[in-house]
Amino acid sequence: MLLVVKMGGSILKEGASGSLVTDLKDVLKENKVVIVHGGGVEVTDIASKLGKEQKFIISPEGFRSRYTDKETIEIYTMVMAGKINKQITIAMQSQGIPTIGLSGLDGAILKAERKARLIAVDERGRKRVVDGGYTGKITQVKTELLNLLMEKGYTPIVTPIAMSQEYEPLNVDGDRTAAIIAGALKADRLILLTDVEGLLLKGQRIPKISASEVREVLKNVGAGMSTKVHAAIEALNQGVSEVLITSGTGKTPISSALKHESGTVITCE
Ligand SMILES: Nc1ncnc2c1ncn2[C@@H]1O[C@H](COP(=O)(O)OP(=O)(O)O)[C@@H](O)[C@H]1O
Ligand SMILES: [Mg+2]
Repeated sequence: MLLVVKMGGSILKEGASGSLVTDLKDVLKENKVVIVHGGGVEVTDIASKLGKEQKFIISPEGFRSRYTDKETIEIYTMVMAGKINKQITIAMQSQGIPTIGLSGLDGAILKAERKARLIAVDERGRKRVVDGGYTGKITQVKTELLNLLMEKGYTPIVTPIAMSQEYEPLNVDGDRTAAIIAGALKADRLILLTDVEGLLLKGQRIPKISASEVREVLKNVGAGMSTKVHAAIEALNQGVSEVLITSGTGKTPISSALKHESGTVITCE
């Protein structure tokens, strides 16, 4: 099978944990994998050390996104494509997994349209229009390059930064990037690894849910997870047959989720 695995920033404090890498090595014996990583918290920490406090915007749909001005996209690129992508690449290589770390800028794997404006909702529910900054919506995935690397035995590790039509870097959401890559590659599974055991409702893990059922409960899902649910629906609409949301911190996070032994399985029906 072809799998797209998104590793949340929440589980990547020091690159990737040993058991996650060992499990990935096992999974790679029978499957091909594209990895997309997050890292938002580390970007925020390093930006603050550089004296650049980060601002976040909540959209009317409840998505939280980084306000990405020129200085922020530079810091974002340094930390995501420089530090975090390379930490994961090193962790994989050290276990004998041949990997290539890439951002969406390399080979223009990810092209995006710059968002001109964003709508921000404040604590009192008032809406205002803010400049879109360096954020984008992915319009194209160069699947040939990813396929070529996988055919040669490499596991690509993709940083969610896309190329704008004006050749500028754009911040794109990691979960949605993973979903769009999965759709474009016609992947069999999208796996979203995070720091909770799956989609929780009233504190309980939901083992299996359909896309239409999950839409009904979205209003009860908080920031962070709601982005994943939206990404899951997007991937299913693009033909991915199952989306697995699970914890990346267990012993065999990917193989257990593939066997439906853990996490939340989201399917079309
Ligand atoms: N209904 C829910 N089920 C599970 N997690 C939820 C829910 N609502 C909000 N969350 C939050 O979503 C978080 C995961 O998203 P996020 O913090 O963005 O992690 P990641 O770095 O993996 O993207 C969880 O740690 C949890 O705090
Ligand atoms: Mg997140």
